[in-house]
Parts: sequence; structure tokens; C-alpha cells
Amino acid sequence: MTAVLEVTNLCKTYIVNKGQNNVLRNVNLTLHEGEFVSIMGPSGSGKSTLLYTVSGMDRLTAGEVIFDRISISGLSEKGMAELRMHKMGFIFQQMHMLGNLSVYDNIILSGYEALKRKGEKRSRIDVNRYADSLMRKLGIIETAGHDITEVSGGQLQRACICRALINSPKMLFADEPTGALNSKAAKEVLTELCRINREGTTIMMVTHDVKVAAQSDKVLYMVDGTIHGEYPLGKYDEGQGMKEREQFLTKWLMEMGW
Ligand SMILES: Nc1ncnc2c1ncn2[C@@H]1O[C@H](COP(=O)(O)OP(=O)(O)O)[C@@H](O)[C@H]1O
Ligand SMILES: [Mg+2]
Repeated sequence: MTAVLEVTNLCKTYIVNKGQNNVLRNVNLTLHEGEFVSIMGPSGSGKSTLLYTVSGMDRLTAGEVIFDRISISGLSEKGMAELRMHKMGFIFQQMHMLGNLSVYDNIILSGYEALKRKGEKRSRIDVNRYADSLMRKLGIIETAGHDITEVSGGQLQRACICRALINSPKMLFADEPTGALNSKAAKEVLTELCRINREGTTIMMVTHDVKVAAQSDKVLYMVDGTIHGEYPLGKYDEGQGMKEREQFLTKWLMEMGW
């Protein structure tokens, strides 16, 4: 199994009012190609910060993060931005869609941006076609021309997934991707994430929802900036009872102090 993400002794400290807040303290983890890992833990335990630092949205204070064999701390801002654009996809709640663009234009924007890379073989037509096929797959093709204020929460979140996938990333980072959705929309989004993962994309997702986490391969539990425990669920296969997975996971979470 090839490692996509290797994190060694990762520390992140914020200085607030001259005081130090050690938000991540010696985090170690490895994600292999095709893995789907959930991060759970109490609010404020550092889950979002972990996603930001390993994906280069935020600088790390100490330790090492190797993504696709590249040490990200050695990268310039530009190098990091390129890596993020071409190899990573993001579903973060605060990364809002642009209100003055249609759903479709929001999705293709970073696809067009990525065409500026030297040696890029795709054309704008290829990006358009890919956006089209993603929107069809995720069942939102009919919203293409709509303004983003004219679609439902579930549709918007599926559009965010299309946007995150437009440059065929190696890895997808998702921060509570179902958090703001009703249960029907959450289920739709989760189904899509599972399908994308089956097609080969590695996923690291923060979630508070046991039902959502139960579909992933492994759950990491964070407390106070460290990984407190790890629960290997294994790949879900249809023959297995999902209820049973949820029950086992819940029992373990209780033991972790959830
Ligand atoms: N930009 C920032 N500046 C200062 N402190 C921050 C910043 N972002 C997060 N923190 C602090 O880091 C801790 C962990 O936050 P976060 O990673 O958002 O936790 P979680 O996602 O698990 O709820 C909190 O104490 C929060 O106040
Ligand atoms: Mg968070």
C-alpha cells in the first residue's frame, strides 16, 4: 500500500494574547492510497486545525507532513498552492461558493485555473465535459445554470464536491461535509463520498456523526490536540450490517469519552 499522507510529530501552536495555545501536539498518522479515514473528537480538540495543516492551508509549527512523497514544509507558497490545486480537493464549510457565479461556473473555475500549468494537456472543453459528467453523477446537472442561492443545501454541498473533484485530486479533505444538512441530503452526500472513495480517491473527513463515520475504513479520535485512539472498521462491504458497524463504533466512542 502506498502512503499518500504521512504525518510525523506534527505540532501547531497559536499565539494568542502572548499566550501559547498548543492546538496540535505530536500528531502521527498515515493515510494510504484509497483509504477513507474519519476524524472525530470533542469540539475544540483540533480536528479542523489538523485538516488545515496537513493540507497546507495553514503552516505547521513543528514536525513533518509528507504528501504524495513531497515534504510540504519545504514548499514555497506558490509550490503549496499548486500542490493544493492539482492534487488536493477541499470540502470546507467556510469555503463558500461565489454568489455572482452560477453553480456550473463555480465548479469549473479552479479547473480553468489549473490549465495554466506548464505541460497541462487538458483544454477548457475537457474541463467543461468533466464538470458535466461530475454533475450528472452527483445528480445536480439540472442546477448548472442556477444561481447558487436557487438550489437546496444538499444540491449546494454536492456542487462543492464537484468543485473539489474538478482537477481529479489524489486526496479529498472534508470538514463536516454533512454537518449543515438534513438527514436526506446528508445521506446523498455520504453516498457520493463513498463512491468517490471506491473509485480510488483517498479521503480524510472530520465528522460528528456516527452514521457518517461508520461508513469509513478507520476512525481516529482526537482529544486535546493528540490522537487518543484509533478504531479500524475496515472497508464496508454490502453483506455487512451497517447497524452493527454503528453499534461497535458507538461503543468504542463511549470508551474514548465521547
Ligand atoms: N486561527 C486561529 N488562531 C488562534 N486559535 C485558533 C485558530 N484556529 C483554531 N484555534 C484554536 O484551536 C483549537 C482547536 O480548534 P479547531 O481545530 O477548530 O477544533 P475542532 O475542529 O476540533 O472543533 C481551539 O482552541 C481554537 O480556539
Ligand atoms: Mg472543526
